[in-house]
Amino acid sequence: MDRIRIRGGRPLSGEIQIGGAKNAALPLMAAGMLTDERLVLSNVAKLADIQTMTALLTQHGIAVDPVGNDGRVLSIGGSISNTEAPYDIVRKMRASVLVLGPLLARVGEARVSLPGGCSIGTRPVDLHLKGLEQLGATFELDGGYIDGRVSGRLRGAKIVFPFVSVGATEQLMMAAALADGQTILANAAREPEIADLAHCLVAMGARITGIGTDQLVIEGVERLHGASHAIIPDRIETGSYACAAAISGGSVFLRDARLEHLGATVRILREAGVDIVEEPGGLMVKRLNGLHGADAMTEPYPGFPTDMQAQFMALMSVAEGASMVTETIFENRFMHVPELNRMGARINVHGASAIVRGVPSLKGAPVMATDLRASLSLILAGLGAKGETIVNRVYHLDRGYEAVERKLAACGADIERIGG
Ligand code: EPZ
Repeated sequence: MDRIRIRGGRPLSGEIQIGGAKNAALPLMAAGMLTDERLVLSNVAKLADIQTMTALLTQHGIAVDPVGNDGRVLSIGGSISNTEAPYDIVRKMRASVLVLGPLLARVGEARVSLPGGCSIGTRPVDLHLKGLEQLGATFELDGGYIDGRVSGRLRGAKIVFPFVSVGATEQLMMAAALADGQTILANAAREPEIADLAHCLVAMGARITGIGTDQLVIEGVERLHGASHAIIPDRIETGSYACAAAISGGSVFLRDARLEHLGATVRILREAGVDIVEEPGGLMVKRLNGLHGADAMTEPYPGFPTDMQAQFMALMSVAEGASMVTETIFENRFMHVPELNRMGARINVHGASAIVRGVPSLKGAPVMATDLRASLSLILAGLGAKGETIVNRVYHLDRGYEAVERKLAACGADIERIGG
């Protein structure tokens, strides 16, 4: 099982290429099921989750072919020959549930394994199912699988989400694109990845208005056609490497990063003493002087992203003063705390909030990655620590970050992947 070894204390300097957003690519790949024609996606990052989604679509009968030889362009298309999404794939990647809407919209039936929980929370899919039922689908639970059916076409409806859900918004937008009539999604998620999916669907012939707002109006069409779409840069990768520059005391140019996608992350990082400046082609990030404790509460976009919470906490663990980090989206997303504390951080968790009292420096130690963003958080801590840190179970990392050790080493970090 691969591990990553970091020897801390070296200020980063140089340039990091920000890749295509994982959380845009996954729904966009599912959108490829909405037409037999080819959807060509470019700026696709090389991630384990993309490979998993490729395997899922392939077993549905959808071809996912690389175009060119750099593996960053995928041509997706073909007819659906299998409507079952198996447990052994879905349990590895919850975004697999996003094939449910496209299956129902295209062939009127679906048998999708319930994803089950994951390390950061129970993560139910009830909003997905309730919304699809409003569009005319019926579901039965059978042996851990959701058996879905719809007689004829899905029919448009007004859906008001009781709270913001990224996945449910994506699921219902895709299903509604082929439904008969108008669908309104009220209290829809506004993450940049939602707008990216909407723009791609429109390029495929869907009729969607309100893109970027919390109310999406979708006029269903009979069929969608092929299109080409470039995936937006990954705002969480951007925020993660901004924290890397800051915790190391260096300065890094994040190529292709987009300030307008970062929402509250910019304000909070600047408040903590991180300098983020737009320059042609990306963002220049460096630590101004010292880091100061700043508070952060995770919220739906444009609030501070839950996917940045663990990384921010690592940064605050070496800031001057205290900070309070509150997690409002998931019920168990503080598993990086005991690992950071093993490195000398002083973090106390009280329910949904963690009090971080900054220390002058962390001390390297062997630590355990528990989930995707926690693994990056531990790498950040290693960059800023004295001595050697070994991060175990980096398969979590590879799900959502491409070549972290290569990108950081190119900026001067003493970091390497060690197998076995
Ligand atoms: C997406 O997950 C992201 N994943 C997550 O990123 C991200 O943390 C999350 O949105 C919030 O921004 C992808 O896009 C592939 P939600 P999703 O539906 O869609 C509850 C990462 O690190 N909920 O917005 O699953 C849910 O339990 C990953 O890249 C229901 O109760 O998130 C959570 O508490 C981690 N019922 C809250 O809503 C439902 O039917 C928000 O979840 C759906 C969600």
